[in-house]
Amino acid sequence: MEFDAHSYDGVAYVYDELASVYSLGQIEASKQSQIQTLSASERVLFAGVGCGRDAIPAIRRGAAVTAIDLSPIMLRRFSATLRREALDAESIQGDVAKHRPDVLYDTVVAHYFLNLFDVDGAAAMLSILCRLVRPGGRLMFADFAPSEAGGAARWITEAYYRPVNWIAWALGLCALHPIPDYPELIEGAGARVLSVTRFPVIPGLDHPAYQSVVAERVA
Ligand SMILES: C[S@@+](CC[C@H](N)C(=O)[O-])C[C@H]1O[C@@H](n2cnc3c(N)ncnc32)[C@H](O)[C@@H]1O
Repeated sequence: MEFDAHSYDGVAYVYDELASVYSLGQIEASKQSQIQTLSASERVLFAGVGCGRDAIPAIRRGAAVTAIDLSPIMLRRFSATLRREALDAESIQGDVAKHRPDVLYDTVVAHYFLNLFDVDGAAAMLSILCRLVRPGGRLMFADFAPSEAGGAARWITEAYYRPVNWIAWALGLCALHPIPDYPELIEGAGARVLSVTRFPVIPGLDHPAYQSVVAERVA
């Protein structure tokens, strides 16, 4: 599935709020959990940055942030936050698959970006993102977690995820697909998984959940 510059314009003003309500705050928690591991002067690309709430603390930590997104409205919201907070970052309106930086990044962050694509598309996008990271650099992403167990856990995950996937697909925001095994896909894209952290929506219950994944480029 291909997205254009305006696929996400329509939801740009409500995206963060909807994500927060739907996930009871766990989408934001999963995104922010990885940012604190970024160090000052690290070159970091935020792929499909959206409104960039997660990029702001990275910039505050001193990372040299490049943010790329197809949607001009998403980027406008990101730029407004930068201005308000008196922060600086490079913003690029464009397709990350066509991005050709002079120097590869230390880290590429792709939060809630891979779920736009079906399983083959996510695998292809992970290869593209991996090639934007220097060897030994990191790829970080947070996204839906598939059920690791069978039975009731699997059905609870499906009941939580499928309706929102249908609605988002009907609005042209993503492909119709099951939740891929992202850590497995990233291993096939030339990276080694360093950590997977789960963020259950309801405290005390394992499912449904989000996950944040950190991987290291090896090839
Ligand atoms: C689901 S939103 C996630 C936004 C943000 N990362 C977050 O977690 O809030 C996905 C974003 O990816 C952008 N996008 C889709 N395809 C893209 C591409 N090929 N290159 C750059 N951005 C893309 C969309 O415009 C949208 O803003």
